[in-house]
Amino acid sequence: MPVTATAWLRTLRGGSQTHLLEAGDKQHYVVKLTNNPQGLRTLLNEWIAQRIMRYLRIPCPDIEIIDIPQSVIDASPKLGIERSKVVTPPVAGWHFGSRYPLHPSLHGVHDILGEAQLLSCRNLHHFAAALTFDKWTANADARQCIFYRARLVDVMDDDGSDDFADSTSRGLVASMIDQGYCFNGGYWDFPDAPGFGLYYRADVYRKIRGWKDFEPWLERIQCFPTSVLDQAFGELPRAWMTPRDEEELPILLERLFRRRSKVASLIEATHDRYPNHFVSWR
Ligand SMILES: Nc1ncnc2c1ncn2[C@@H]1O[C@H](COP(=O)(O)OP(=O)(O)OP(=O)(O)O)[C@@H](O)[C@H]1O
Ligand SMILES: [Mg+2]
Repeated sequence: MPVTATAWLRTLRGGSQTHLLEAGDKQHYVVKLTNNPQGLRTLLNEWIAQRIMRYLRIPCPDIEIIDIPQSVIDASPKLGIERSKVVTPPVAGWHFGSRYPLHPSLHGVHDILGEAQLLSCRNLHHFAAALTFDKWTANADARQCIFYRARLVDVMDDDGSDDFADSTSRGLVASMIDQGYCFNGGYWDFPDAPGFGLYYRADVYRKIRGWKDFEPWLERIQCFPTSVLDQAFGELPRAWMTPRDEEELPILLERLFRRRSKVASLIEATHDRYPNHFVSWR
């Protein structure tokens, strides 16, 4: 069921012009609007990708459909998509929300960390996981994440039994965001460039020594059940889809399922092309 937005807080940076909204469940959400400049398909991509990531056990924010009522739009003149200083408001109704993990005015959530802080991050091993996911889904963007202080066990939303790091004490953790350009964004194809999905700081891959570091996620992809994709498709609001999307999305998901066996070779191509990102993998 959608969560209703109750107040607009601020506009966030980035190409899709997201907005931070408070919602009726007392949580805050980074909301991608249906009229965002990157297109409606990015909302579908975000939704499907999050369901896949969750199944693969890669940390990423909770997501919800956010129902923005007309009253919130009327009370928030900056809520919308700005072009040439003119703001076009969203339509009242359902938009995509990525849950802000903490209270935004009480706790820091960071896009970027200094080197020492980055290296202290509890779950750098999840950058190998994210790369595996990004190769599979042909994420045509660089890998993006947020960092904040939490227990890994809370970020993973379960007992963390197969995590490699200490998961029960508090520290900086990375959570993967912005899956809008999976499936090559609005193109819905798989062009597979070696640079896709790489995080801009090679430090996060420093501990990767070989295939063993990718194994848990490669294995989960190999055994991936189609039911996860079917269920994700079933959850999508039909208002986010054109009739053509409704026809093409199941075909895209079928192609995704069939290309599971390619993922290892795609990682290999990335390693061959960017050896400096994998200094311990020789
Ligand atoms: N769940 C979240 N919790 C906290 N902050 C978030 C969350 N999701 C996104 N953000 C913040 O909002 C910004 C924009 O989000 P996102 O990257 O998904 O949109 P975008 O428009 O594609 O941005 P860009 O063009 O910079 O890639 C991020 O840089 C990040 O700071
Ligand atoms: Mg982004």
